[in-house]
Amino acid sequence: MADLEEIKKRIDELREQINYHNYRYYVLDSPEISDAEYDALMRELKQLEEQYPQFVTPDSPTQRVGAAPVEAFGVVEHPLPLLSLGNAFSKEELLAWHSRTVKLLGTSDFDFVGELKVDGLAVALTYVDGLFTTGATRGDGFRGEDITQNLRTIRSIPLSVPKDAPPRFEVRGEVFLPKDGFHKLNRERAEEGLPLFANPRNAAAGSVRQLDPRITAKRPLDIYIYMLGYAEGKPIPPTHWETLEYLKSLGFKVNPNNRLLKSIEEVEEYHQTWVERRENLQYEVDGVVVKVNQLELQARLGDVGHEPRWAIAYKFPATQGTTRLVDIGISVGRTGTLNPYAILEPVTVGGVTIRQAALHNEDDIRRKDIRIGDTVIVQRAGEVIPEVVGPVKSKRTGQEKEFKLLEKVFDPSKGRPACPVCGGEIIQPEGEVMYYCSNATCPAQAQQRLEHFVSRGAMDIRGIGESLSATLFAQGLVRDPADLYYLKDKKDKLLSLEKMAEKSVSNLLSAIENSKERPLARLIFALGIRHIGEETAEILASEFHSLEALANASREQLMSIPTIGPKIADSIIAFFREEANRNIIRKLKEAGVRLEEEAAAKPETLPLSGKEFVLTGTLASFPRHEAEERIKALGGSTSSSVSKKTTYLVVGADPGSKLAKAQQLGTKILNEEEFLKLLEEATKTRNGA
Ligand code: IVH
Repeated sequence: MADLEEIKKRIDELREQINYHNYRYYVLDSPEISDAEYDALMRELKQLEEQYPQFVTPDSPTQRVGAAPVEAFGVVEHPLPLLSLGNAFSKEELLAWHSRTVKLLGTSDFDFVGELKVDGLAVALTYVDGLFTTGATRGDGFRGEDITQNLRTIRSIPLSVPKDAPPRFEVRGEVFLPKDGFHKLNRERAEEGLPLFANPRNAAAGSVRQLDPRITAKRPLDIYIYMLGYAEGKPIPPTHWETLEYLKSLGFKVNPNNRLLKSIEEVEEYHQTWVERRENLQYEVDGVVVKVNQLELQARLGDVGHEPRWAIAYKFPATQGTTRLVDIGISVGRTGTLNPYAILEPVTVGGVTIRQAALHNEDDIRRKDIRIGDTVIVQRAGEVIPEVVGPVKSKRTGQEKEFKLLEKVFDPSKGRPACPVCGGEIIQPEGEVMYYCSNATCPAQAQQRLEHFVSRGAMDIRGIGESLSATLFAQGLVRDPADLYYLKDKKDKLLSLEKMAEKSVSNLLSAIENSKERPLARLIFALGIRHIGEETAEILASEFHSLEALANASREQLMSIPTIGPKIADSIIAFFREEANRNIIRKLKEAGVRLEEEAAAKPETLPLSGKEFVLTGTLASFPRHEAEERIKALGGSTSSSVSKKTTYLVVGADPGSKLAKAQQLGTKILNEEEFLKLLEEATKTRNGA
């Protein structure tokens, strides 16, 4: 029998280390250890918590992901409304704001904080007794949605804060999706025929408002905290700048590009600097926010309407331009998708010349009514692929032509539409927006499948780029991704290739060798099964634990997983039915690639996990929000209305109509005393008593 005290100590130690490295990695962007070392710590903690569930706490780093999907979000009342900001679009408008402020205060003796206006969505995070208890959207400013479970998956949000933090406080910040995450998400959605997110803000909002937190967890969301909402029980610093420093010291991620500015001229310079440098940022910003630094002056200035007088958003000029859409070209993707792209008359947007832009799919082109010959608005959202926003209809001459993909790829010699690369037949599966080349051996596809297999989110084999993969195919060294693991027997051949020396070949071979131990989810994603993005791959791995189990799964088995519909199920079945693909799996197995993984620790280890509470009437022991916080801290969820999913209705004095509804549905009803007892027992279980 292991010594429980020793185990508890080790668990605490691991948590402390993991929290520290999380903080280095996600908050400071400056990791001290490798991913593998981090994973090892996390694995050990998960194993211990699985063995000793009595030691699981809600702020353990293992408890970020794993809450069950909800049917709808609860409502959170903001104790202090979340305001929006007035805008300035020019230097004149900024100066006008400054003059008004000076006039109202009767002095120009104050400074400013300049911050980047990150384009995401505003959230309010509440901490009670050191624990993150509630996270809410802005909503209408007075009431937002309870998205606590989703926000818990964001690694840069601390689940707990140091003991000397105020006993109850709220911070506010902007949740955002970095540019590369946004583009990747849209690429995947385009491929799945899902509507695209127009900008990173919508993508962040869509991700955070997922009913299934496991999906949120897969999106690389991040946050910058930009103000303290309120703090109870502790004095706070007298200026905004010092408050931000204080929040940093509590472990919050504050934008390192914020500046304390001494004059309105410095504000103007700060703005200009970021007009020039915004493209270098990994996230989208649409302006700077200028705030009066002294909190006492902020209070004197107050609000007007929904906007504070003490701050203003000084916007950037847009990075859009207009040009002519000369033609629409077609490229062939890894799953055989025919991808339309815009061929443009070259145009300079924000200092970069654009010749081509993404068009996603035919439906999207039709929805936006983009025609060949149109003058179009192009937009550079980040430094990746520019996109066509839409046509300028007023500039139409009547000569513009609608785009029809099947006409574009029509091959007169064959008398039918054909793949522009291999001449293969074109198909459009029922209910899908994409067209595909049906030739499984299309060289464009095979090569792109290989490039996908080795890419970062997949098997992450460095050193195989576009040109090497083309050579490997051309030389017949590789016909499918599994062949990579047999290249070590063909070292001489590799050495004879152009640009390949002893050193680069041995680096390549060891990169290939190392990839054999990648997690199952990555391997599933790497196979390039149609409609299986990283998120779905993760879900499949955690359901099946082995590639062979997945390959043999029935349609019913697949469809019984909540996020898997018929389209994905059929795609998986079709993939593994294909003899060529079964052969790849056989070859991977023989080469020693890891095809399974141990079952992960059950996430639902908190005593009230999976239990939904609804409260009605007034409780004598504590206010309702506190009751809700206690429930959540023990893993339970709360809802504002009784439904079939409700586990308990907690009844206080003067209950409302919910009681009748619960009686009608046969929901278990708890009076206050019973409720307190339940909380007490759950707390004991959690603490391992
Ligand atoms: S301060 C009372 N600071 O911009 C002041 N807002 O229209 C309220 N935003 O909804 C906001 N970066 O989501 C502030 N550094 C920053 C910000 C920021 C982005 C967003 C915020 C708000 C919107 C204002």
